[in-house]
Amino acid sequence: MSRISKNVNIPYTELNYYRYALCKKIAITNILLQNTKYLHNIDTIYDVMAGVGISGKIFLKYFPNSTIFLNDISKECVNVLCSIPQFINKQIQITNQDCFSLELPKVVDLIFIDYNSFTCNECSKVAKERIYQLKQWLVKNKSKLNWVLISDTYVFSLKFQKDKTNNSQKFSDYKLKFENVLNLKIIAVSCYKNNDCCLFLCKINEFV
Ligand SMILES: C[S@@+](CC[C@H](N)C(=O)[O-])C[C@H]1O[C@@H](n2cnc3c(N)ncnc32)[C@H](O)[C@@H]1O
Repeated sequence: MSRISKNVNIPYTELNYYRYALCKKIAITNILLQNTKYLHNIDTIYDVMAGVGISGKIFLKYFPNSTIFLNDISKECVNVLCSIPQFINKQIQITNQDCFSLELPKVVDLIFIDYNSFTCNECSKVAKERIYQLKQWLVKNKSKLNWVLISDTYVFSLKFQKDKTNNSQKFSDYKLKFENVLNLKIIAVSCYKNNDCCLFLCKINEFV
């Protein structure tokens, strides 16, 4: 994970992603299955940082009738996505763009934003710029977005607390911070089994 958190812009294909693939798979599957009461009528899914298609395959499995857009900024990842037989399918569109310059369709029922490493708790200049970029993008596209699924690595830092008795409170405080910073309301949470990362299923605050 330390390698991932330090290398946010490295193509996913160059990271040891297979070490986290199972945790990612389980966390995504759990959040989808545990929230079917919300996630019905999902016609359009945008996996804007689609990597090597771990998430894309799960979306295809659970939403076989949806239109699924898979995008990644890295050519290497897009090559992997294009080589996956299940994705050679007319309901799937694969693109190779910076997601923050993507023109979204009119309505995206479920968007997945799966950074290599992202938390609203980082204070470095680069991290602050990334948070600002995401926030601006969410504001710009808010009328097109329904459910927003985001990966967040705050829980990783809790693993290294000497005294873990306050971790639960710290996580609650962090979730409030995340909601305030990004103007999102967290509806459900699914943590990776290894506690490196969490998924937040969110709504844009004003649409809750
Ligand atoms: C954690 S991986 C995604 C894993 C993916 N969900 C999967 O299941 O394979 C993060 C991906 O984000 C991509 N990425 C980073 N910044 C991006 C951007 N601005 N636009 C599009 N993709 C980006 C990276 O190339 C990397 O493949």
